[in-house]
Amino acid sequence: MKVLANDGVSQSGIDALEKAGYEVITTTVAQEQLINYINEKEISVLLVRSATTVRKDLIDACPNLKIIGRGGVGMDNIDVEYAREKGLSVINTPAASSHSVAELVFGHLYGLSRFLHNSNRDMPLEGDSNFKGLKKAYAKGTELKGKTLGVLGFGRIGQATAKVALGAGMKVIAFDPFLETANLELDFFDGQTVNFEIKTISKEDVLKQADFITLHVPAQKEYVIDEAEFNIMKDGVIIVNAARGGVLNEVALVKAIESGKVARAALDVFEKEPKPEMQLLMNPALSLTPHTGAATNEAQDRIGAELATQIISILG
Ligand SMILES: NC(=O)c1ccc[n+]([C@@H]2O[C@H](COP(=O)([O-])OP(=O)(O)OC[C@H]3O[C@@H](n4cnc5c(N)ncnc54)[C@H](O)[C@@H]3O)[C@@H](O)[C@H]2O)c1
Repeated sequence: MKVLANDGVSQSGIDALEKAGYEVITTTVAQEQLINYINEKEISVLLVRSATTVRKDLIDACPNLKIIGRGGVGMDNIDVEYAREKGLSVINTPAASSHSVAELVFGHLYGLSRFLHNSNRDMPLEGDSNFKGLKKAYAKGTELKGKTLGVLGFGRIGQATAKVALGAGMKVIAFDPFLETANLELDFFDGQTVNFEIKTISKEDVLKQADFITLHVPAQKEYVIDEAEFNIMKDGVIIVNAARGGVLNEVALVKAIESGKVARAALDVFEKEPKPEMQLLMNPALSLTPHTGAATNEAQDRIGAELATQIISILG
């Protein structure tokens, strides 16, 4: 049977599938040629990430397709319900990238608390002519240890981020309307484990108490962080959105930065992807990444391996 990994798949995934007798094609077929290609090559499994879309027309036009697989979490690019109604299996890999996203959040948090995002912009320009000036400009850094991290959305990534925070010596508070308590087990290199039980608290309490706030909620109709939420945060809070564009009101964020309510912020996701607002891209209070939360070699390996396991268990 043939698997088309149209947006690529890790070598670990290819190896596992080939070992089980599958042929894996990693050519990227243009969207408008995809239906023909799937039918001509008799593809049984279509694997995508976020670039390729799998809509009703493709599902209707490719009757031999058995599985649609999404390497990653969000399946906005696939007509999931329709595919399932038509008897296809639709699979994804929800847990594979949680720790990678958590580490990116901490990359931003450590960077922001020591002004690395600005320092990296300024050193190439002024590092030789104004070293002392820059040293003074970035002297008032803060440590994360001992501070409070507020996590909004305490699912897979929220909990993975909380574990990193606990390891870094932070206090963790969390809000999740669908979860009362979570048991977090921290594993250390020498086999020791430490368990933490975190009871979620109200959104308002998280917003009021946190020194740092990180968002890990799914996409939803309303903003989770809007003007009203910014207003009740501590002055000088640092906030990260590595969830989905549209859960945080970017216009309200810029206002909150201008008023001094938010000291600095990090965005990995944007309301307008792939063309974020220039006002955000040029804002010196922002640490920015182009939706690379899940983009690590380790996550890609786990995604490939997890997809292969699921495909083999469905098709044999
Ligand atoms: N930056 C990246 O590259 C990247 C990578 C993977 C996932 N993500 C995104 O991260 C987010 C979290 O993913 P996950 O795997 O942890 O999902 P998850 O489903 O495991 O957890 C989401 C949690 O949010 C809670 N929730 C829902 N609405 C809420 C609200 N209004 N306020 C507070 N909590 C709320 C849910 O109860 C759930 O526990 C998703 O938006 C996902 O798309 C981003």
